[in-house]
Amino acid sequence: MATLKNEFAGLQLKNPFIVASSELTNTLEKIQLAEKAGAAAVSTKLCFLQVPFWAKPYHKVEDRIIFFSPSGDRMSVEDAQRLVEGAKKTTDIKIIANMMGPSDVEGWGVLAKKLEDAGADMIEMNMSCPNIGLHAKQIGAKQAGGAAGASLGQNAELSEAVSRAASSAVKIPVMAKLTPEGPTALMAEACSKGGVAAVSAINCPQSLPSPDIYNGGRPTYTNTNNMSFAGLCGPAIRPLAYRHIAQIRTKNPDLNIAGGGGLMTWQHCVDMIMYGADVLTFCVLFYLKGFRVIKNLEEGMLKFMEEQGYENIGQMRDLALKYIVTPDKVNYSNCVPKVDQSKCTGCGSCVNMSQCMIFEQGPDKKAVVTREKECYGCGVCYWTCPAKAISMVNEDGTVIDPPKK
Ligand SMILES: Cc1cc2nc3c(=O)[nH]c(=O)nc-3n(C[C@H](O)[C@H](O)[C@H](O)COP(=O)(O)O)c2cc1C
Repeated sequence: MATLKNEFAGLQLKNPFIVASSELTNTLEKIQLAEKAGAAAVSTKLCFLQVPFWAKPYHKVEDRIIFFSPSGDRMSVEDAQRLVEGAKKTTDIKIIANMMGPSDVEGWGVLAKKLEDAGADMIEMNMSCPNIGLHAKQIGAKQAGGAAGASLGQNAELSEAVSRAASSAVKIPVMAKLTPEGPTALMAEACSKGGVAAVSAINCPQSLPSPDIYNGGRPTYTNTNNMSFAGLCGPAIRPLAYRHIAQIRTKNPDLNIAGGGGLMTWQHCVDMIMYGADVLTFCVLFYLKGFRVIKNLEEGMLKFMEEQGYENIGQMRDLALKYIVTPDKVNYSNCVPKVDQSKCTGCGSCVNMSQCMIFEQGPDKKAVVTREKECYGCGVCYWTCPAKAISMVNEDGTVIDPPKK
């Protein structure tokens, strides 16, 4: 019988689903809803000893896959303590307290201890916020804390030092949240040396949405008339997140890893686990679809595990890593495209690709492979044919099965 139960850095979790730190987790009501919907843990909204500057959320969502988040709500440590205390009194969900320390290293320990005293089950050190520190550094401004957020998370020495300060100040496990702006595998190693029990990745890389080109390049946010660089989150960052988790796991085989970034379906959860994650974090999924989809993740994963014969998450973890090699070690096969004439609509999409000259259109406009010997078998025509009329065939005549999802 398959189970989703999991131990993560000493926390007993009923499943691997964690609500990521954001405005999804800044009130007791929302934490209670997350628990009711089946989440095993929440990471509360970022808090500070001293909130560096006032801000409120503004977002842009393009095509429901590109989610820009340049700013958010900010919690004082007093607010966060009240939230953690309330959640511990009224729920059984595990509470991870997301925090960012001040510019002095010891302050990270002071803040962590306050959150432990309030009842937090785990500390998440945010050394990855794209909106704090990094922006100031990039534009040369002395604001928002020079070595904070994603700027701190690219400095291994400092990250190790704050990891040590926080980890030695508390008895509960400490997790470092890493930025994809830096070498996450090395940063994870540094934080681990500093004593953290776990790392989470990825936070949002910096980005910019399209400006309004018919209005002098103004920003297109609903509630601002200027903007800072945005954190990019949601489906657009998923492949980047897979890469970071695979690299962190390869370099740090024994570390506890929370993997997130663009996870939207139960299949993505399995992907992330096969690339090395122990547990999973979600933010934009719940922004777009609500906590109720946790049920779908749970049911989908359990059904898959039963079908495939996996009893627990540990048996799936890291399975995809053995296929990642250096570019000089890649094994190639010789396959070529075959066009199913009954499916081809004659749209010409394969014929028009400028990198490839192997197709021609016949008198009925349908595609025909005429220069097979020049084919690399690279797969672009196969992946992009709008009619799915192209299959790839090996030298021995066997057809390559498309992936199921
Ligand atoms: C509106 C919003 C607010 C966020 N606030 C925080 C935060 O307070 N602390 C933090 O560590 N990450 C924060 N994040 C990052 C998310 O926790 C998550 O790491 C990121 O969005 C990538 O996951 P996703 O693609 O599932 O959204 C925030 C993201 C969004 C969209």
